[in-house]
Amino acid sequence: MKKTNTLRKLWYSLSANQRFLIRRLYFFPSDFKDKLTGKRHKYVAPRGYIYTGSSANAEEYLKQGEFQLDLLKKFIALQPEDKVLDIGSGVGRTAIALTHFLNGGGGYEGFDAVEEGVKWCNSKIKKDFPNFNFTYVSLDNDLYNKSNIKADNYRFIYENNTFDKVFLFSVFTHMMPNEIENYFKEIERVLKPGGRCLSTVFVYDDENEGFISTKEGFSFSVKKDGYRLMSDKVKSANIAISESKLDEMIAKTQLEKVSLIDGFWKDMVKEDGELEYQDMLVLKKR
Ligand SMILES: C[S@@+](CC[C@H](N)C(=O)[O-])C[C@H]1O[C@@H](n2cnc3c(N)ncnc32)[C@H](O)[C@@H]1O
Repeated sequence: MKKTNTLRKLWYSLSANQRFLIRRLYFFPSDFKDKLTGKRHKYVAPRGYIYTGSSANAEEYLKQGEFQLDLLKKFIALQPEDKVLDIGSGVGRTAIALTHFLNGGGGYEGFDAVEEGVKWCNSKIKKDFPNFNFTYVSLDNDLYNKSNIKADNYRFIYENNTFDKVFLFSVFTHMMPNEIENYFKEIERVLKPGGRCLSTVFVYDDENEGFISTKEGFSFSVKKDGYRLMSDKVKSANIAISESKLDEMIAKTQLEKVSLIDGFWKDMVKEDGELEYQDMLVLKKR
């Protein structure tokens, strides 16, 4: 486990471009083999290009997307005619699953801070599904992208009251609290009244803070005011927020906390196939 922590630290000490390059080289043999054996899928990027952490082959990546779709149906009652916003749309993991769920009345918008992922999604998914659209916004994030566009005061490009549902899978886990606070305000603005938002987060309280700060293999050892970091060098590598800080930020908006569902990362619940690794936060616009 110590080895896992050391390797993770080493990985985070590299620049985003170095990590992207190493990933491509590392997965080149398996991506090439997948191509030769017809195991590639037209909407799934080769493993070397899935910079978002998953090392899944196409079949597994599609399954992960279906799992996310199930969570959206279960926890925010996603409907085929919904207008949805996918913040941090990555390389299209959720979008691919939504292509067979949303109907012509529904629509998908996604945005992300990494241009390659957005380009892939527009060239493969949007091309076949015109009601899907992906936007690149060069937001600053020390894990993914260096830029002077900051998430703590970024105004989303969408009009007020546009979306029925908004979701963020594994995005707030890479954002600072002041950035999340701004995103809560923007989510409130772009959601229709009664609209819902599902986000995954790492959340702790007084009882489990000690455990998550020393947990072997995946620990948030760096203490800050109301949140904890995995690495002080790359702050966005992984962030856990205290529940009281999260509540304080939600209280500044017209969003209401519907539920906070424990994931199995902090060993409080067992992995049972229906739950996420990360905790899930469900919000509703009043
Ligand atoms: C772990 S990946 C998850 C991607 C996707 N949601 C999925 O489930 O595959 C996190 C994504 O968030 C994006 N991201 C980071 N900071 C962001 C920000 N401030 N606004 C929007 N996206 C951001 C990253 O570029 C990356 O694609």
